[in-house]
Amino acid sequence: MRRAVAGITKSPVDHYLIQAVKMQPYNEILAETLIDPETLQKRVAELGAEISRDYAGADGPLLLICVLRGGVPFLVDLMRHITVPHMLDFMAISSYGSGVRESSGDVRLTMDLMTNIHDKHVLLVEDIIDSGNTIASLLGLLETRQPKSLKVCALLDKAERREAVVPVHYCGFTIPNKFVFGYGLDLDEYYRNLPFIGVVDLKKYKPGP
Ligand code: IMP
Ligand code: MG
Repeated sequence: MRRAVAGITKSPVDHYLIQAVKMQPYNEILAETLIDPETLQKRVAELGAEISRDYAGADGPLLLICVLRGGVPFLVDLMRHITVPHMLDFMAISSYGSGVRESSGDVRLTMDLMTNIHDKHVLLVEDIIDSGNTIASLLGLLETRQPKSLKVCALLDKAERREAVVPVHYCGFTIPNKFVFGYGLDLDEYYRNLPFIGVVDLKKYKPGP
């Protein structure tokens, strides 16, 4: 570990360690805590209960599709409050690269589902809907595969930034137009592990190497 930090060895793992060690502590760039862990968990439990009620007795299996990577902590907590039988699958997309804070609407599918969604009740689990371009493009793609139903569950909704008209059937919190991090949401891929949603002070943020 010490050798890696000093930059003596150059394996991919060491490179990761060097970057991680140089990461700014989150409190240096935290402008405010927008949603604390207790409030988050309470709302996630409510959403799970609502989804369980709505899909109870559904005429077919429920498939939760998590959009990697930001949706992971939300999915993991949410599924533990969903009491109806369900399956999981994952897909990955990239809408903008490191250092760019707005999605272009030019969404690239980087990892497809393992499951055939034809005739299944699909619930897409997302971390945040901002312009709506990402989810609009995903919904378009999934609809071509003819699921029995297709709904959206988003933890956060930056409603005032919306460009594409998208349905949000389950929404955790509507938030103001501020760049946020934590609980799955990243700043250049880091800070996804924070147990709360914080507003980033971009003026204080120094991107790593
Ligand atoms: P949209 O296509 O503009 O709706 O962008 C959606 C995607 O942008 C989300 O799935 C996130 O990955 C990312 N995103 C949007 N706003 C934020 C933010 O405030 N913090 C971190 N990621 C964000
Ligand atoms: Mg996302």
